Parts: sequence; C-alpha cells; structure tokens
Amino acid sequence: MIGDEIKVQRHYDEMAEVYDRRYDYRRGRCYHAHISQHVMNGLVQGGYLLDIGCGTGLFVNRYTEKGGTAVGLDISSGMIEKAVERCPDSDFTVGDGDVLPFKDSTFDAVASLLAFSYLTEPGRMLSEAYRVLKPGGTISVCTLGKNLLTAGLPAIHHIGEAMKIQQVGMGDFGEHYYNEKEMRKLFSEAGFTGVQVKRCSFAHLNLVEPVFDIAKKIEPFVERRLPCFAYNICVKGKKE
Ligand SMILES: C[S@@+](CC[C@H](N)C(=O)[O-])C[C@H]1O[C@@H](n2cnc3c(N)ncnc32)[C@H](O)[C@@H]1O
Repeated sequence: MIGDEIKVQRHYDEMAEVYDRRYDYRRGRCYHAHISQHVMNGLVQGGYLLDIGCGTGLFVNRYTEKGGTAVGLDISSGMIEKAVERCPDSDFTVGDGDVLPFKDSTFDAVASLLAFSYLTEPGRMLSEAYRVLKPGGTISVCTLGKNLLTAGLPAIHHIGEAMKIQQVGMGDFGEHYYNEKEMRKLFSEAGFTGVQVKRCSFAHLNLVEPVFDIAKKIEPFVERRLPCFAYNICVKGKKE
C-alpha cells in the first residue's frame, strides 16, 4: 500500500464507529438511498455481487435484501467489522480494490459507492473488476464527480486536516474526481462495453434541513437538465 492508501485505511478505521450516524437520520438515509438506487439500476439483480469499498455494508445489505448474494471488500478492517455485524450472512474481506483476491469470472455484478475517488490506480481496479466479472456481468459505480460544487473540496479537506476536524471524509487523501469523458475512457480502456454515464444527487446530506428539502424537490430536474450541478457521477458498463 502507498501513503495515501494507508492514510485512508487509518481514517476509516477511526471513523468506523461513527460512520453510520451519517445515514441514521432522514437526510443521510435519503441521500444514500438515492445513490444506491442509481447503482442498483446498473446491476444484474439477484446475482452474486462484489462491492468494492463496501464500508459498513449498507449496499451489500440492500442487494441481498432483493434476493442476491454478496461479498464486500474494504481496505479498512474497522469498516469491515461493522459490515459483518450488519450482514452476518454475507462474506467480507479486508483488501485493496486494486488487487482483487478472487478467481476470474466469479461475479455477476460489481458495485462501488463513494469509494472510487480514493483509488490511486482506478484503471487497475477496473481491470480487476473486469477480470472477476462473468461474461454478461455488469459494473455500476457512483463517486463524487468533478464540477463546480466539488472543486473546492480538496482545499476544504486540507484545511480540515490541518485543524484536526474529526469528520468522515475530512482529510488530505489525494482524492480524484472525474468528469464524464474521463470516466468513459477509464471504463472503456478496462474492456467494458455499453458504458453509460449519468450525474446524480443534488440534495446532499450536508445541506441544512429546509435547503435539503428544496434541493430534493428539484433534484430530478437538476439531474436531467443541469447535471453539472449534481454531486455524484454514476457509471455502468458490461463485460461482453
Ligand atoms: C465514503 S466510504 C463509502 C462506504 C460505502 N461504500 C458506503 O456507501 O457507505 C469509502 C470507503 O472506501 C474504502 N476504501 C477507500 N479506498 C479503498 C481501496 N483502495 N480499496 C478498498 N476500499 C477502499 C474506505 O475504507 C471506506 O470504507
């Protein structure tokens, strides 16, 4: 593991105990459910899923509730412990998304939510995802996109770290945000076909309550007509 990865691993080990509080209240639940739905729409349902950067198992739980089986992989053992508590019937493993400890053509579906921005070698993760997918399998990824709203985040994270603010995601981790063209290129180079890219989420969980409600109302319009103002970018593709 290289420096930034060790930093990310330590951060999420420290945050594991409090991570779920983000999604325990209405805005957090709503935000995560929205992203999860976008990711779910890109996947083979009821199959065998690998969730890369699975965190505390929120998406594994959702996928298996709909009849699938799943394995979650995460670089943080603290997050994996929480995932095991949430989903005792699923399998979890501590590992780096760049090197997947699975045989070729194992999974029907690969997902990754809010973790892709941390990868130091995203092309390698995508090639690995391609390798472990069965022919006909699908990948669906959602991560913070590159736009006006996220442009200032690295500076905020840098300041947050200097001020020792203890908050999920607050730190200088060398995160990368991508635009449509960059995502399309990464997925195509890994071998995926039928690559589709969409922006999602305007109602961010960090917005204050009344603003969140307004943002939620206009979210479908923003996603369709003003996608440059949506926080996340969702990509799906297929292994032929
Ligand atoms: C913001 S959390 C998202 C967790 C979960 N996917 C969710 O939606 O709640 C990011 C997760 O990515 C994991 N992560 C970051 N870099 C990783 C890597 N290189 N390999 C595997 N997991 C990684 C972190 O440990 C953390 O659990």
